[in-house]
Amino acid sequence: MADKLIIFDTTLRDGEQSPGASMTKDEKIRIAKALEKLRVDVIEAGFPIASVGDFEAVQAVANTIKNSTVCGLARALEKDIDRAAEALKGAASFRIHTFLATSPLHMEMKLRMSPDQVLEQAVKAVTHARRYTDNVEFSPEDAGRSEVDFLCRVIEAVIKAGAKTINIPDTVGYTLPEYFGKLIATLRERIPNSDQAVFSVHCHNDLGLAVANSLAAVLNGARQVECTINGLGERAGNAALEEIVMAVRTRHDVFPCQVEVDTTQIVPCSRLVSNITGFPVQPNKAIVGANAFAHESGIHQDGVLKHRQTYEIMKAEDVGWHANRMVLGKHSGRNAFRDRLKSLNIELESEEQLNAAFARFKELADKKHEVFDEDLQALVTDTLSSEHERIKLVSLKVCTETGEPPHAQITLNINGEEKSVGASGSGPVDATFKAIEALINSQTNLLVYSVNNVTNGTDSQGEVGVRLEKHGQVINGQGADTDIVIASAKAYLNALNKVFTVTGRQHPQVAVEV
Ligand code: KIV
Ligand code: ZN
Repeated sequence: MADKLIIFDTTLRDGEQSPGASMTKDEKIRIAKALEKLRVDVIEAGFPIASVGDFEAVQAVANTIKNSTVCGLARALEKDIDRAAEALKGAASFRIHTFLATSPLHMEMKLRMSPDQVLEQAVKAVTHARRYTDNVEFSPEDAGRSEVDFLCRVIEAVIKAGAKTINIPDTVGYTLPEYFGKLIATLRERIPNSDQAVFSVHCHNDLGLAVANSLAAVLNGARQVECTINGLGERAGNAALEEIVMAVRTRHDVFPCQVEVDTTQIVPCSRLVSNITGFPVQPNKAIVGANAFAHESGIHQDGVLKHRQTYEIMKAEDVGWHANRMVLGKHSGRNAFRDRLKSLNIELESEEQLNAAFARFKELADKKHEVFDEDLQALVTDTLSSEHERIKLVSLKVCTETGEPPHAQITLNINGEEKSVGASGSGPVDATFKAIEALINSQTNLLVYSVNNVTNGTDSQGEVGVRLEKHGQVINGQGADTDIVIASAKAYLNALNKVFTVTGRQHPQVAVEV
């Protein structure tokens, strides 16, 4: 039997550290359920000490998920570990992941600690975490730039203290596959008790090498990979889960291990994460990009028709393309709608939510002939995210005419009071945003505006993403509608609502008070 490669998903923790990708508790639960259905082994749900919101989200995920281990991140501090343990205690199975930097640069400039102090603190943290569980993971942060002798000392000591997983992070995406593979082999060879822990890797993608580095580590004995859906994560992101899983599965002739995830859930999961975070998936993205299995050139099409394997190394349906593309239409009833949501793993909590989503579905089915699974995902995200909004769109009328400046007339409900205003702009979306600003005066900067079609055809819903910045805080908003100007207004309002409610949270790798 080949070894098992443990898939540790950190979309909800490192993925959430991408600027603007912060998620609400309910959004995290939706993604966690999708990850459970994907059958990942470990779900890192967040950093409980970061804020009350993070704590509650980790707690909710811990209380919901039954078939994956739920993990919480903690700096190597007793108060972080206590908070993580408190958030995780309701889980069927949980892990505490504690970390401390070991590179000369981080120890000297960030922690202002000597190597001996770091070693002592790491052992103390693992010993403390073991009071709560024997499933303790330790990461020497910035291991990719740490001195190998010192890494060996720290790792040997934390394994002795009870760490069962040793995660080697390439925190800044600096290493190269050959070096990183050798590093894992060296650590396993040189550390006398290395056989008492699973070696894991956590690679960032600053040089576009996160997946290559992770796979090099697997070839050298790593048996856990930390990764995220769509490669979401801090800066350039983390290793993409879908690429790791499909590389190991497709090249089983090379990798001496196997993954146990349900690959048919990869595309639905990718869509959900993109939909909730508002980070679109580039069309040429491996496995989950819209073009990943599309053959444009005649020669390729001809080859694939004659014999699929001429140009395809994986089957689209094995990763979830087309698997669930069932269609609903305007005659579909409530039960069909509810069943479809259930099979997409979307559970609405109350009858009111189901009613609101069903009403939106009927509106959409009136405008659009066929309603696909992608439409339902977008529609539910849109319905749920607007549920508790303080600023709601009541109506929008936009006039565009050749030779005339576009004009938007908007009515918003702001804290229960309706207000209307009109504004002109260079285009219909610009006029709409100016009208919203005339009522709200948010003093935010618009960083990103993007539109993507949810399905094919001109009757498709447009999914709009908006990224705003205020006092250094970055917030994303999403909106979906068959009318892209209305989708834009919804996305802008979704972001503004978050600007007024999201409160500051600590960043695990910046906040240091050891
Ligand atoms: O990139 C990193 O080093 C991390 C650690 C907390 C594992 O995210
Ligand atoms: Zn990271």
